[in-house]
Amino acid sequence: MSRLVIVSNRIPGKSPAAGGLAVALKKTLSARDGFWFGWSGAFAESPEKKARFETVDGLQIGAIDLTRSDHQSYYAGFSNSILWPAFHLRLDLTDIQSHWYEGYRGVNAQFADALIPHLKRDDVIWVHDYHLIPLATELRRRNIRNRIGFYLHIPFPTPDALNAIPHHEDLLNDLMAYDLVGLQAQRDVAAFNEFIAHEEMVRAGGGTPFHFDTGSTIIKAFPIGSDPDAFAKLAVSPNAQKMYKKVERAMNGRSMLLGVDRLDYSKGLPQRIQSYEKLLENNANLRRAVHMIQIAPPSRDTIKEYQIISDELDTAVGRVTGRFAEPDWLPITYVKRAYAQASLAGLYRLAKVGLVTPLRDGMNLVAHEYVGSQDPEDPGVLVLSRFAGAAEIFHDALLINPFDSDETAEAMRRAVTMPLDERKARWTSLMAAAREHNVDNWADSFLDALGDGGETRSTSDNG
Ligand code: G6P
Repeated sequence: MSRLVIVSNRIPGKSPAAGGLAVALKKTLSARDGFWFGWSGAFAESPEKKARFETVDGLQIGAIDLTRSDHQSYYAGFSNSILWPAFHLRLDLTDIQSHWYEGYRGVNAQFADALIPHLKRDDVIWVHDYHLIPLATELRRRNIRNRIGFYLHIPFPTPDALNAIPHHEDLLNDLMAYDLVGLQAQRDVAAFNEFIAHEEMVRAGGGTPFHFDTGSTIIKAFPIGSDPDAFAKLAVSPNAQKMYKKVERAMNGRSMLLGVDRLDYSKGLPQRIQSYEKLLENNANLRRAVHMIQIAPPSRDTIKEYQIISDELDTAVGRVTGRFAEPDWLPITYVKRAYAQASLAGLYRLAKVGLVTPLRDGMNLVAHEYVGSQDPEDPGVLVLSRFAGAAEIFHDALLINPFDSDETAEAMRRAVTMPLDERKARWTSLMAAAREHNVDNWADSFLDALGDGGETRSTSDNG
């Protein structure tokens, strides 16, 4: 079997953000004797072209530092102020500064330069996420003809949103430099095809769309998953139990509704709080019987829109607290901090209701982890946004429109009061789906589709 080279902006071990994926791909990577490559998390005085390698947790990790200004253009700028909001259909939150594109492509070129000395002819290369769309183009320009796959962890945008991204023509052609492009959900493949159909219609009507040809690239949905059985074990581990018992005591018999999200405007957090407010408003009998915990570790906080969403959430939590709290009961606990996975698993298990209500989301692995962590004899209920990729898999969650606070509040009420039989039946179906779509199957099916090493492109393809 040929070696596997994984490339992503974040590398394992350096940040909890890459944690889930790192755990998931560790097995695959160690079976294939390859390495992981990405940004070190550190800054350089001048651009670096040479990677440093070290062994972290038995994995070979190669990394380069970036200059602050390159990182600003590539990460906070083009990736997270243009691609992220546009791909999540938040054109109103984009901040389009044209010079960022140069930094974005420049960092992709630096990645290519630093990677190439470490590549072998048969290596299979797997590139992850929107930060690195141009990487295959940069590698092919440098005569790399290995098999290269790309996986997008976030949703694919609609044609209008894609059209609003500067240089989207280049980005689409960049995708076509890959042998395989994996998307999260059928919804995303449909959006991709819609864009192509739209361009063909413009062409047929005499307009001049840009030249675009999918060539031999395969575009397909590979819904990512977690390891639900590992979460089942983790949720009863000593560290999980410590958290479970502590919070169980604090709940004092009340039903806990739980949300765990990066503090991001795509997660629908103010909307979720508003729906919870409606739940309390419409159901006086539930007021002292429930408690919501929202965990939201800050994210990308140098970007203005992230500061705004953080302030909005402070305001929403304050509003609900002021309106419904009593001297001996608080409606909500808001924690702006990250927790270890074991502690989260304990909380997931205790929560009667898992709230996964993003406005738009690639997959959302919290939904998978919540399902995996439940007690089969007394499982909680998943309230899930229709706009998370997970909704294509978890048919027996309570599916809601997160923009509709009446519907969401009603789903919260149903979840809190759901009889045990129905909870068990729904959870059994959710757990079966989580197992079927587990992360090992995901990695295997992507890599099977990508093929096993060898050259894929003739020299003329490398443009
Ligand atoms: C999303 C993206 C990942 C990213 C993560 C954390 O899940 O798909 O690529 O690593 O968010 O965000 P950050 O900007 O901190 O890497």
